Amino acid sequence: MRKKSKNLTSKESEKIIITAALPYANGPIHVGHLLEYIQADIYARFLKLQGKDALYICASDMHGTPVEVNAQKAGKKPEAYALGFWKEHQLDFASYLIHFDHYYHTHTPENRKLAEYFFSEIKKKKLIYTKKMNIIYCNSCQRSLPDRYVRGTCPYCTTAEQYGDVCESCGSVLKGIDLLNPKCALCGKTPLQKESEHYFFKLSAFAKKLQQWMSSSHLQPEVQHWLQGWMANGLDDWCISRDAPYFGFEIPGSKEETGSVKYFYVWMDAPIGYISTTENYCAHKKCHWEEYWKHGKVHHFIGKDISYFHFLFWPAMLMAMNIPVPELTVHGFITINGEKMSKSRGTFFTAKDFLKLYPAEALRFFYAKHLDRKVIDVDLNLEEFKALTNNVLMGNVGNFCYRVLTFAHKNYGKVGKIAAEKERTAVVHQNITIVQDSYAAQDFKSAVKYVLQIADEGNAYFQMSAAWKNPSDPQSVAAVGWCVNLARNIAIIISPILPDFSRKIFDALGAKELSWNDIEFSWKGTVREPAKLVQKIEAVPSSPIFPLRLVVGKIIAVKDHPNADSLYLLTVDLGKSWGKKQVVAGLKKHLTPKQLLNRKAVFCANMKPAKLRGEMSEAMILAADDGVTVAPLEAGKTALGEEVHVDGMENSTQGVTFEEFKKLVLLVRGGKVFVEGKKMTTPVEDVIVHGVKEGARVY
Ligand code: MSP
Ligand code: ZN
Repeated sequence: MRKKSKNLTSKESEKIIITAALPYANGPIHVGHLLEYIQADIYARFLKLQGKDALYICASDMHGTPVEVNAQKAGKKPEAYALGFWKEHQLDFASYLIHFDHYYHTHTPENRKLAEYFFSEIKKKKLIYTKKMNIIYCNSCQRSLPDRYVRGTCPYCTTAEQYGDVCESCGSVLKGIDLLNPKCALCGKTPLQKESEHYFFKLSAFAKKLQQWMSSSHLQPEVQHWLQGWMANGLDDWCISRDAPYFGFEIPGSKEETGSVKYFYVWMDAPIGYISTTENYCAHKKCHWEEYWKHGKVHHFIGKDISYFHFLFWPAMLMAMNIPVPELTVHGFITINGEKMSKSRGTFFTAKDFLKLYPAEALRFFYAKHLDRKVIDVDLNLEEFKALTNNVLMGNVGNFCYRVLTFAHKNYGKVGKIAAEKERTAVVHQNITIVQDSYAAQDFKSAVKYVLQIADEGNAYFQMSAAWKNPSDPQSVAAVGWCVNLARNIAIIISPILPDFSRKIFDALGAKELSWNDIEFSWKGTVREPAKLVQKIEAVPSSPIFPLRLVVGKIIAVKDHPNADSLYLLTVDLGKSWGKKQVVAGLKKHLTPKQLLNRKAVFCANMKPAKLRGEMSEAMILAADDGVTVAPLEAGKTALGEEVHVDGMENSTQGVTFEEFKKLVLLVRGGKVFVEGKKMTTPVEDVIVHGVKEGARVY
């Protein structure tokens, strides 16, 4: 893969390591992950194209409670379970043309040795100490429970059913022991607190050094901002050990020192995996990891969710070990069609599933087009994705290169003459320099923009030359010669983003592999027929369907149900297109007829009609219930018959049964109603609800 440029300066021979975060060997790679692995891949390929001694390394992160628990569920040993994903990850990455110089994992002898070495060295410096703390223990499962494995009520906002690490409703950071009414997430029983002695890393001792590092390195402004906030809040020492059962490395001597066997917390040995992977690579290539880590340059690419680990814990550990702190690039998260990826909405794409629908390079191009080193979320809007692939990737760059090469092949079979086109050539060279600077600044958005401009220039020139009118005219021959050179240069500069696209052009020109130094307008030689460069996207699956058809209506009559004490018979007006319907509602214990009459509310209009205690119910009224209070949803400003939508989703036109309805979780947050984080709205207002507690469910 690597090719040295003709004249290496000492700077160019500097050893560079590029890493992406080590994905958990606990599930498949999905399109969200791919943003990062593609981003780092583009950068690594660019450095290599420039003749730099760069390595792109990564590994699967094998340890931690989820691996241990899920392996058990799958009836496998944690190691075998995780190794399965390790293999799968490599195939997935390769299928998106993500090229690692080495892909290892963290459950290796090198990583164990290095983690133990870090631990003992840092301990010698008195920067690791032991302290007794309260842990949560489930007697029935016979295990300690990490925060994610405890569920209970948030002590700050009283929302029920929260995980022990963070409240999804109010955003408070929690520790499992903070939860009210805690339950074991594995068996549902009430766990107890237990004392256990653990190892702590003295992060607090690094406040000053970290502050210095922050101000001297060029961090992204968003990150700088977070860091200032974290530092201002004060740095807590970090617990780096876990109780059994745990899938990880046992801490030597822990039993004697703390009374029970302890394991390294996964976030202690995972980043060390960056180094042990380098070490394993070097064992085969006869180099030493320190050449990269101590005397070269290391650059991590990570997602924003793991910033705390990479900007505080990891740098502090490296400082303690006298290893220089790497540079870092943080990216935002992928959403699909404006929403968090969701299995229920059909927008959770594994890398494999996505590849069944779309070509890999289309995704690489889309991501490149949206990455500019700002920490913002990237929305993979599938319509935009299709348009970009078909109109821009195919219609502009692809079209130019393909047209020109096919034309040259058919008419001449070679390039022998090249138009001088001095000015035009100079403009292209200028733009190529901008592309180069953009890549170097990891502003791939800008790199794409200028590649497109170059291709535009080429398309316009080829069009103007009208070579097809008179192919044998010497002017036509020379113009096409210039265009083939341009296509060749485009193939070089776009190769970090589209390696396959470029390879097909290189193939047509009989070149094995070209580097940035090969950019020129004087190439002559045989032109073969090019393979098809871009695959068109025919259709994208349509937007997800919300199973309910919700409509605003008004209660125009309230009667007692003749056969049931707790039920009313309502007559509701659902506007012109739906008309009047009878609804059986279990609201008698909570609301008087007066409170209901003439009230606007939200109804499920596509319920399959059913007889309830002998009376027909043709729709359902939606009401929030927090266990004490029941309150119908409100949409007072909305006209009768208007539909209620869940953000952007389309409402179903099919009937729904009560059983199907019950599977949906509709929750009250801040007086509004949400389905999986998506807000319920009418065309003019948010649907609201009064008088129930946060987190109440809607039925
Ligand atoms: N194992 C840790 C990293 C250890 S690094 C020493 C981990 N693994 S992960 O599989 O959860 O995530 C791997 C990377 O993918 C992270 O950088 C994470 O931010 C990124 N992404 C995971 N989901 C993502 C999106 N939906 N969008 C963009 N990036 C995402 O964290
Ligand atoms: Zn339990």
